[in-house]
Amino acid sequence: MRNIAIVVGSLRKDSINKKLAQNIMAIGSDIFRFTLADLADVPMLNQDLEDDLPKPVVDFKKIIAGADGVILVTPEYNRSVPAVMKNAIDWASRPYGQNLWQGKPVAMCGIAPGPVGTATAQAHLRSVLAMLGAALCCQPEVYLQDTQGMFDEQGVITAERVRNFLRRFLEGLDLWIAKFG
Ligand code: FNR
Repeated sequence: MRNIAIVVGSLRKDSINKKLAQNIMAIGSDIFRFTLADLADVPMLNQDLEDDLPKPVVDFKKIIAGADGVILVTPEYNRSVPAVMKNAIDWASRPYGQNLWQGKPVAMCGIAPGPVGTATAQAHLRSVLAMLGAALCCQPEVYLQDTQGMFDEQGVITAERVRNFLRRFLEGLDLWIAKFG
């Protein structure tokens, strides 16, 4: 089984992107071993900290380094990437010469209340990850809208159509890693 790191760009307790990540981990539990990165204590990047990295940063970098692939689950803030997500990506790209994204298979997805469904945030993410040399798995694109009834009381995605689509997303990443990982 391949190791997949999941990075969620929201710290919010009731985050719909956290719920999406939980669903992805359940739907793909027979093909991937998932590790959910905890960004709650990762500080804002400050180059002064690079000589003696804070433990949450060390832990995060270990998860990315040990992963066969990464799934970024991103909200959209003001038509771009939330600072939490960008900060995590920046930490794993540093220090200079130790960019963990180089050649790393990366897929992304996201959910938002609005119909644009994080498309612009993901476009910006792709631009950043391309510059860092990630092996971007770009199909299928996953732009979900949090419509009424998307999640049940336990946070489980109810629609079979959406669950099947997320399964195809994970199978696509599996094939991608087999070819380019
Ligand atoms: C938002 N939200 C938002 N939604 C969207 O689809 N496009 C956007 O550009 C923005 N901009 C934005 C800016 C800021 C600062 C906040 C706090 C929120 C709404 C956002 O999609 C919504 O709050 C989601 O629920 C955030 O994701 P989580 O935290 O639930 O995973």
